[in-house]
Amino acid sequence: MKNILNIEFGFNAMKKLNEHPKVRKSHTIFFVDIFFKNSFLIKEILIKEKDFLYFVDSTNELTTTDVNNVLKTIKETNNNYEVVVGIGGGTSLDFAKAISNLLTNKGTAEDYQGWDLVKTPGVYKIGIPTLSGTGAESSKTCVMINLQNGLKLGMNSNHTVYDELILDPSLAKTVPKEQFFYTGMDTYIHCIESLNGSHRHPLSDAYSNQALDLARQVFQSEDMMSDKNREKMMVASYFGGVAIANSFVGVVHPISAGLSVVLGIHHCEANCITMTAMEEFYPAEYNEFMKLVEKNQIKLRRGLCQNLSKKQYDDLFDASTMHEIPLKNALGLDFKKILTKEKVIELYKKM
Ligand SMILES: [Fe+2]
Repeated sequence: MKNILNIEFGFNAMKKLNEHPKVRKSHTIFFVDIFFKNSFLIKEILIKEKDFLYFVDSTNELTTTDVNNVLKTIKETNNNYEVVVGIGGGTSLDFAKAISNLLTNKGTAEDYQGWDLVKTPGVYKIGIPTLSGTGAESSKTCVMINLQNGLKLGMNSNHTVYDELILDPSLAKTVPKEQFFYTGMDTYIHCIESLNGSHRHPLSDAYSNQALDLARQVFQSEDMMSDKNREKMMVASYFGGVAIANSFVGVVHPISAGLSVVLGIHHCEANCITMTAMEEFYPAEYNEFMKLVEKNQIKLRRGLCQNLSKKQYDDLFDASTMHEIPLKNALGLDFKKILTKEKVIELYKKM
């Protein structure tokens, strides 16, 4: 996997953005989570006259339609953008990556959902996560849902990797507690899936183990959102993203994808809800996860898949079992014999 060229780490590292030579000299596109629209953060960024600023609403998961619409607007400005900056959680970071790739590769977002389909390096991109856990800052994908066919898949490519990162733990200070937990747990889940898969190897294991150790320190402590813990979580997220870029997820992410596609539940919360039905596949991690939920007094939504229509159950089955690569990684080539339709529906009803 391609490595990120430069990482600025530490409290207030964000301030370096305004001094960045490329950002100062070039037309820049900023994707900023709408959460920061009226905050100190946006006021501190110097936006030049021909820069393009877009506020990302991360209420819903990113769709290929969102990406195509914004790409069209950007192209209509006729400005030559040389830098794309993503500031926010996974959705904002992924949005910036997708646009960067599409500015140098013809076509629409749907054309690049898959593996190694992006042929030309994208526009220079800088990622600034404000939430830790998804690993979007270090991963080689940008997850998007194609609403036409229900496909939830990113542009998996070395060209999707950020060129630079600014990791500033002060940015995650105002995150709501539940969101901090769900998002941080995404890292935990990436790592346990990678470590339990058949594609594991010493490189991905090293990153996974380090990220898991940090995540455990954070969630087992008395104040998971302390300054020290936000620092740790930011590193854990980065390492977890590298781990998963060098390996594959397992059962949790495909089942969670079903919840996102069919019921519109955000990725990180959907993962946590999915974990409540994972005792059979990841028994030790299931027990640890449930203890951490309790310790941090997180109220997970339960019973969301109890009384759905037949079509919704069919859709949940299709949207989860279509992720064959991670499911083979976790359960082997014959995963369909384990994850029968009855079994999958039973899992969803357990949540
Ligand atoms: Fe994830």
